[in-house]
Amino acid sequence: DGIRDDLVTGVQTCALPISTEQMNIVIVGHVDHGKSTLIGRLLADTNSLPNGKLEQIKATCEANSKPFEYAFLLDALKDEQSQGITIDIARVFFNTKKRNYIILDAPGHIEFLKNMVTGAARAEAAILMIDAHEGVKENSRRHGYLLSMLGIRQVVVAINKMDLVEYNKTIFDRVKKEYSVFLETIGVQPIAFVPVSAFHGEGVTKFSESMPWFDGDTVLTHIDSFKKEESNHHKPYRMPVQDIYKFTETNDTRRIIAGTIETGTIAIGDEVIFYPSKKISKVATIESFNTEKKEVASSGEAIGLTLETQIYTKPGELMAKVGEPLPHISYELHVNLFWLGKKPMLLDKRYKIKCGAAGIPVYLKKIHRILDASDLSTHEKKQQIERHDVAECVLQTTKPLSFDLSADIATTGRFVIVDDYEISGGGIISKTVSESKSRIEDYIQRREFAWEKGAIKPKARSEKLKQNPKLIIITGPVGVGKQALAKSMEEQLFKQGKHVYYLGLSNMLLSLGSDRFHTIHDRDAHIRQLGEVSHLFTDAGLIVITTISDLDDQEATILKLLSHPNELIVISMGEKALTEFPVDFELKESLSLDRQVGRVLNVLKEKSILLDDYSI
Ligand code: GTP
Ligand code: MG
Repeated sequence: DGIRDDLVTGVQTCALPISTEQMNIVIVGHVDHGKSTLIGRLLADTNSLPNGKLEQIKATCEANSKPFEYAFLLDALKDEQSQGITIDIARVFFNTKKRNYIILDAPGHIEFLKNMVTGAARAEAAILMIDAHEGVKENSRRHGYLLSMLGIRQVVVAINKMDLVEYNKTIFDRVKKEYSVFLETIGVQPIAFVPVSAFHGEGVTKFSESMPWFDGDTVLTHIDSFKKEESNHHKPYRMPVQDIYKFTETNDTRRIIAGTIETGTIAIGDEVIFYPSKKISKVATIESFNTEKKEVASSGEAIGLTLETQIYTKPGELMAKVGEPLPHISYELHVNLFWLGKKPMLLDKRYKIKCGAAGIPVYLKKIHRILDASDLSTHEKKQQIERHDVAECVLQTTKPLSFDLSADIATTGRFVIVDDYEISGGGIISKTVSESKSRIEDYIQRREFAWEKGAIKPKARSEKLKQNPKLIIITGPVGVGKQALAKSMEEQLFKQGKHVYYLGLSNMLLSLGSDRFHTIHDRDAHIRQLGEVSHLFTDAGLIVITTISDLDDQEATILKLLSHPNELIVISMGEKALTEFPVDFELKESLSLDRQVGRVLNVLKEKSILLDDYSI
């Protein structure tokens, strides 16, 4: 379909910056419609090329009796590239009197789409190129749609290769009309349509006599009149938490919360809230890399913060400011999704969603509409999302996701979908779902429905075993003695004739290791497994004891749902990661093991888990 995966170029010119204002512009369009040629022309005609470069390449072409191409300029500059920037779409730098530009050349290949969708490549404005001779093609439409989805509103359409149609006004008008109709349906209003011959330099920086019928501006004039986007400083504060660093001093319990501010500003003393845990604290200090300590920081800055109180937050959370509009939290999202994966996106298959710094399991729950982005035809009945489809659909997570609606805050309203470690799609969050339900809740409903029950009623089992089955979770930081307590409890209860089992699902698997990507992924899977196993055991009447480091609200909720109807008891030791989920008993670390066990067994008795008299 004309998508080329092989074109990877990186370009940098030596021109010195004249002005400090900078703007990113992307050039999109169908294969061979002249994107690289236009860029080459812009470089040549704005004197942004190193001296003699153009002549040198023309001479080389002549010597090899090869026709000269402006695109060769880009390749040649790439070879000269000094700063070793490797990025997967060509970046070309050039300046006008007004400002400095970075032009992203998008040869229509998949990396580009990926970068646009993920936000790795950001552009404030776009030039859409259409070959006058060939007319509107799939990518002209796809890219137009993508720009609209990504919220790039400043678009100029260059109708190129006018020389091939004898600079004919009728043909220009026809292509313009056809494309305008399309753009209108997707809500894109181009600033202008410009007839161009990139190769011959018509309409790029000047018009000669070729098109007297056209009285509009050149492409360059339009580029210079693109407006800078409004700054993100004035939006609500959002910082995805990338990392938490601990101080190395033994008695220093402070932590540095690191990330890049997406929008808004933050100052020392501001009250902040973390989503989805909803932990609240105040900013104590703002540390910034390689600079002095600061009082205030704002969007675009990578910072580290310390807080006045020690709260448990972790990478993946979204930080906001109390008193400002807060992020949404939901298990279900209405999204517009652009699929790039080789394999189609399937209903009920487990993927991973990345939004802000969060990465959690996600499922495609419902497809409302699938749009073929090239002709905008819709398919209401399609049950999977094919490569290059745009879908309006509902995604469902197993844990609550914090985000913004893309219309409110673009960066935290955007996500990507990872399938098997590869970014396979992405899009924007358009709406929340009222009364959203977790993936797990839906699953439990199905499980309960399908569960074939035996003849023995739970009550009879409880009376016989003299206990009410329960999953008992001991949680707390690593190294507070959770396992010792769990094993000792198992022993004590066993001695008293209880039917008890210590489920020693390795703590290694359930603690955050250094390779976060893997461990978070695995941790979710193990929590899920633990929930299923303890559901079986408690259904059989057992008391199950297990330990989990730093159990958080979302995980506790999942385990509670999975253990239904027997649910769970949570005992915490030391610092708690839980905020809203109720803890049944908080143990002091300073107690001896025997006394800890005694306290916990008392709690179990009070909660009618142990049904007869006992003594220790
Ligand atoms: P991809 O990067 O492969 O997607 O193509 P592209 O859009 O960058 O097109 P490119 O600039 O490489 O141009 C493709 C062909 O069209 C080249 O042979 C160019 O010389 C030719 N071309 C570009 N602009 C013009 C033009 O205005 N007139 C004519 N006659 N040919 C042009
Ligand atoms: Mg090209």
